[in-house]
Amino acid sequence: MGSVIDACGVRHEYPDGTTAIKNIDVTIKQQEQIAVIGANGSGKSTLQLVLGGLVEPTVGSITFFEKTTDAETVRERLGVLLQNPDDYLFNTTVREDIEYGPAQLGYNRTTAERRVESLADTLGLIDLLDRPPFRLSGGEKQRAAIASVLAFDPDVLLLDEPFGAVDATYREQILHLLSNHTGSMLIFTPSVDLVPKIANQVILIGQDGGIAARGSVREILTNRNLLSTHGLRPPQTVQMFETVLPDADIPLTVEAAREFLLKRES
Ligand SMILES: Nc1ncnc2c1ncn2[C@@H]1O[C@H](COP(=O)(O)OP(=O)(O)OP(=O)(O)O)[C@@H](O)[C@H]1O
Ligand SMILES: [Mg+2]
Repeated sequence: MGSVIDACGVRHEYPDGTTAIKNIDVTIKQQEQIAVIGANGSGKSTLQLVLGGLVEPTVGSITFFEKTTDAETVRERLGVLLQNPDDYLFNTTVREDIEYGPAQLGYNRTTAERRVESLADTLGLIDLLDRPPFRLSGGEKQRAAIASVLAFDPDVLLLDEPFGAVDATYREQILHLLSNHTGSMLIFTPSVDLVPKIANQVILIGQDGGIAARGSVREILTNRNLLSTHGLRPPQTVQMFETVLPDADIPLTVEAAREFLLKRES
């Protein structure tokens, strides 16, 4: 399978001298769905900016789609959701923000409008489309920002904490939209509980800003020692079942836990 992003020997230092990420060698392949987890301040957002081509690494290189091209020319294939939705919403109305990507890329107007309407419907934004984005609540802004990234149907999604302020109903809707995405996806989050629902691989960023581990969701999320070394805890279902079941059988989601308990009762 071809690679979509290759990072080689990447390190990023902010102007004040803070080294946010270092020794990053990573390849993201087509169709991989990866959760990048790590404690606050470990470097997830910095890594997202660098892998998304929005920030040049201080040291090392990033290659997109196996070619030595600059990020500008591949921008339309990367959908980057920044951690703060305010960095994303800058037009006069929510509708203009969501239509911005497809319009910039010259997409067919009717197709784009249909896609915008469909996203707005799924994400509960229909009544908010004519409002200025700064007049939205936190969760509404986050939903609008997600809609504006998905609107131009990018091949590769790099989403920084897409569920932070979103309530349970819309979390389900977003999970549903993301499960229909056929390209590669990187979700950057410090919360591990939703990871088994969105990813099949995990990259753990250590507290030193390097990659501490990469593996299957089960492998990483049942490794209590590894997670706690890097300031994280296993998902709640893992904490519940870890002394009761072997790692290979521990339910990773609430749904799997419920199924396990029902089966045991019958
Ligand atoms: N603009 C900046 N200037 C200087 N240091 C920064 C800047 N932005 C982030 N940092 C520092 O870089 C490190 C990594 O920050 P980053 O935002 O990438 O972490 P994160 O893993 O995304 O954290 P969180 O879970 O809180 O979102 C931290 O030590 C942070 O204080
Ligand atoms: Mg962050």
